[in-house]
Amino acid sequence: MKSFSRHRRLRSGENIRRMVREHQVSPDDFIYPLFVVEGSGIKEEVPSMPGVFHFSLDRLNEEVDEVVELGIPSIILFGVPEDKDACGSSAHADEGIVQRAIRQVKERHPDLYVMADTCLCQYTDHGHCGVVENGEIVNDESLRVLARTAVSQARAGADLIAPSNMMDGFVTVIREALDEAGFPHIPIMSYAVKYASAFYGPFRDAAHSTPQFGDRRTYQMDPANAREALREAASDVAEGADLLMVKPGLAYMDIIHQLKENFHLPVAAYNVSGEYSMVKAAAEKGWIDERKVVLETLTGLKRAGADLILTYHAKDAVHWLTNRA
Ligand code: PBG
Repeated sequence: MKSFSRHRRLRSGENIRRMVREHQVSPDDFIYPLFVVEGSGIKEEVPSMPGVFHFSLDRLNEEVDEVVELGIPSIILFGVPEDKDACGSSAHADEGIVQRAIRQVKERHPDLYVMADTCLCQYTDHGHCGVVENGEIVNDESLRVLARTAVSQARAGADLIAPSNMMDGFVTVIREALDEAGFPHIPIMSYAVKYASAFYGPFRDAAHSTPQFGDRRTYQMDPANAREALREAASDVAEGADLLMVKPGLAYMDIIHQLKENFHLPVAAYNVSGEYSMVKAAAEKGWIDERKVVLETLTGLKRAGADLILTYHAKDAVHWLTNRA
């Protein structure tokens, strides 16, 4: 008989499959995004993101306690402020919503690793991630505001700064500003490769950050480009980023893989809102097995090269990974 390979030998039972498994998802990989709002008594579900809520500060502890109890090591905070203006001043206010949330969380859970998203789109009345002049998003002027925002977040107690604004040079100015303000030990996780993606739709509902004119294609990347992703990542590495992020995750697994191969920094993948909402909607209709689809997705991101995963599925995934009810 002609010889052929018997791959099935290593798939014959659960134990041997466990032993040869190449990649694992673990609660250690997760960063859980949370949305904080002004006001009181608010725990309001985001309509397009079942299971994801807006929390006012007086309701935030219950959620964060649960995250800690589950053993999730980290959260990333997104603020949804009441006051917006043309240059996003509430992004760097000492009493801004994110700054207050960071202080509150760190006081209650000093060991929880708290990341701050550094961007202006939730804080500007036009909804762009930078400062606008004559209908243009102006790069260098935006950098000043972003650096100030990062410092205010570090001062509030953030353990890491995660700038998502896609202006050129943001790592350089934020690094300099953090160092000067006495925070040389605070790392920067750069949203180095962030595509102009339709998968952010539900997040923009959640964060009230839809641009009021135009779109984000003059600063976020064209989904058709891969080599440009390497240029973006290389400049952020040169500017002093400590971790690199690729966003979104699923349609960009090749990019995750390439960053892992080409650079020596940890790579994070953002399993974004639209990816979450699609799974939730299909699961609600009974069309897919949510548990299996989520664990398969997260495993796929790990296999592609992600060391860390920002995901709205984190709490559910920990339950499923540890067989909790
Ligand atoms: C802010 C920001 C966005 C996301 C994270 N930070 C939205 C955007 O760029 O429009 C998206 C996250 C998600 O979709 O889950 N710039």
